[in-house]
Amino acid sequence: MSLFAVLFILGFISANSGAAIGSNSGVFHYEVPIPRSQTRHEYLRSVIDFWTPERIASARPMESSFDANIRVSPLDIQEIEAKNTERLLAAPAPLSLKAPVGPPAVGKIYFSFDKLTYMCSGSVVNAANRDTVVTAGHCVYNNTAKVFATNLIFMPHYENNVRPHGTFPARSIVTTQEWMAKVDYTHDVAVVLVDINDENEHVQDLTGAFGISLNAPEVGTTHLFGYPANSEKGEVMDTCNGQTAKPSAIVSMLSNNFKGMQITCGMNGGSSGGPWIRSYNSNTGSGLQVAVTSFGSSLAPGKIHGPLFKEANIGQLFNFAKNK
Ligand SMILES: *[C@@H]1O[C@H](CO)[C@@H](O)[C@H](O)[C@H]1NC(C)=O
Repeated sequence: MSLFAVLFILGFISANSGAAIGSNSGVFHYEVPIPRSQTRHEYLRSVIDFWTPERIASARPMESSFDANIRVSPLDIQEIEAKNTERLLAAPAPLSLKAPVGPPAVGKIYFSFDKLTYMCSGSVVNAANRDTVVTAGHCVYNNTAKVFATNLIFMPHYENNVRPHGTFPARSIVTTQEWMAKVDYTHDVAVVLVDINDENEHVQDLTGAFGISLNAPEVGTTHLFGYPANSEKGEVMDTCNGQTAKPSAIVSMLSNNFKGMQITCGMNGGSSGGPWIRSYNSNTGSGLQVAVTSFGSSLAPGKIHGPLFKEANIGQLFNFAKNK
């Protein structure tokens, strides 16, 4: 039997050329290049200044599509990695919650691909460097053009262009070999290390941070956060909550044997890279991150999918990046 399906990515991707790129087992590390003509400070300033109100307004949460003609074989795609038991990779580090509502550790990401600007979502996780933002692999690397995002900024707790904690330009991007080489949604995760803001503050000191839990159960009460374009044009943080479930067998098969979770949630483009949180505490805006928003599928209308956090995806990225 031959099947046809369309999977669409919920946020977007980007470009760059010629810069320090390093590889370390399954981790791919990209140091954001500083042009020779600029000091580091001048360069970071220029990235923040790049984002004029016009560019921000025209940033697109485009939906790219992935078409597949795949032969269905009797694969046991429900196989579980039984040896992977749940464990804490990082404990949460909450601060007191202030307006606007929603966890302060969630923010909006803008970036460029060529001349086009895009938006995604991301979250601060508890790391020694206090600069660690988690997002989706497809928000930092275009594996068709084989290029990294440029002009990438993170704005925690963003709302209607108000940036209560300022703007944090990326200094370094880390993603998985599997995402880069194989468009493997099970590994559609990335870590963005951000620089200090204008006030010389580290992002985690201002927003607090989620913890990270590896090998969480696929089924569980989960809160999702992000900036989807179908809610206030992506200008306001949106949320979904409910029970996650395993992806359907057909979605798994057609998306390169995707291992992760799905949830009923109406968030669309722009929500990509946003966190999936267990044990969410709405008083502190704190909890444990277990996935990121990755993709939707015409085979599962009304659902969105996220890769379950494992040692092989976020684990190795986080351990590589947390002290950098
Ligand atoms: C990724 O790169 C390809 C090839 O250059 C391009 O066609 C596509 O539009 C890019 N994706 C995005 C989201 O810009």
